Amino acid sequence: MEFNTVAITPWEAEAFVDYDRLIKIFGAKPLTDSEIDLLKSIVKESHTMIRRRVFYSHRDFDKFLEAYKSGKKCTLYTGRGPSGNTHLGHILPWIFAKWLQDKLGLDLFFQMTDDEKFWHSEGGEFEYFNSLAYENILDLAALGLDYRKTHIIINSEDIRYLYPIAIKIAKKITFSIQRATFGFTESTNIGMIFYPTLQMAVAFLPSELFGEPVEVLIPAGIDQDPYWRITRDIATSLGYPKPSQIHNKLLPGLGIGGKMSSSKPETAIYTTDSPELAYSKVMRAYTGGQATAELQRKLGGNPDICPVYKMFEMLFEEDDEKLIERYYACRGGNLLCGECKNALGERVAKFLKEHQNRRTKAVNYIERYLIRDKFTPPIIKRIEITPK
Ligand code: TYM
Repeated sequence: MEFNTVAITPWEAEAFVDYDRLIKIFGAKPLTDSEIDLLKSIVKESHTMIRRRVFYSHRDFDKFLEAYKSGKKCTLYTGRGPSGNTHLGHILPWIFAKWLQDKLGLDLFFQMTDDEKFWHSEGGEFEYFNSLAYENILDLAALGLDYRKTHIIINSEDIRYLYPIAIKIAKKITFSIQRATFGFTESTNIGMIFYPTLQMAVAFLPSELFGEPVEVLIPAGIDQDPYWRITRDIATSLGYPKPSQIHNKLLPGLGIGGKMSSSKPETAIYTTDSPELAYSKVMRAYTGGQATAELQRKLGGNPDICPVYKMFEMLFEEDDEKLIERYYACRGGNLLCGECKNALGERVAKFLKEHQNRRTKAVNYIERYLIRDKFTPPIIKRIEITPK
């Protein structure tokens, strides 16, 4: 689906897009040294995903940090549409959200949109998507998010938190706005047409729950941006602060082009893949290398278009110097794709082994993450009705 000539919507997105052009079209700002320094001045360290501009653009991230510094109530918000098992692209923003949660001590509201994925899918029972939500929560738990500060809303089960807010949002949004923003057509089912109000509602929920204007920061992939543009447009008129965003680039799949996506299982690495399967997927990956080892030595490879290199850069190499060494060794023809894939495959397999151990243990305590009765849902104030 084309969105303003750039193929990116919440449901379809490329990974090797022109990210600078994209944010111009979306009207977001590039993340600059000034926001990075501000964050560092607060948390006293930096994160690889920030230093390397994996999180590369934002709206009001600076204002959010200033609000935090001045002691205003702040929270985080992110989410997942459970359409299948979790893959490494999905956990990328969650790893960063966890880091922010730890460093800033903030509550994180996490939305599981089992309704969205049912409405969006071509087939499958609703119960399947609901069950997947619980599967996906195991990944959040395995990443070590703090359950005392993480509140998961499963749309179908916790709707009372969202519906009073969504009613008011829905009245502000026309079908023509929805169509222009999300590319909906006459044949889009009406569940999908209503759905965006629920994703927007969570951005306003903290203000309702804490009874004061709460600043909300949304760390998420750039593909989710269409929701936030509308959310920000209507926030003030509904009496809420505009939520801030920080956007990550999309981890590519292991094939040619395209983001890592649940719809392309052979080029995605799922957190549930056995370490052996994941290793073999990496060994079969497309790379930016030459056709033969000889040519690679002579001409060097191109890490800028290589999903294997991007996996190191975005998730699997902590050490900046080693990453740069890998980049130039590839460019200079001193690193062959086989070696590089083997190194990545081993790292991915090790990560999965550890993650899966934590995931298995998490089965016993996912309940603690659910919002359920942790808060009093937004109260609808009764208005005195005078008889006419
Ligand atoms: P979903 O399940 O498609 O994606 C969950 C999160 O993962 C990000 N993402 C990626 N990041 C890096 N590389 C990739 N290849 C990749 N693929 C997906 C997404 O940007 C997202 O941050 N409608 C949403 C669910 C949702 C939500 C939210 C997401 C509800 N409220 C608030 C973010 C913030 C969805 O289907 O996400």
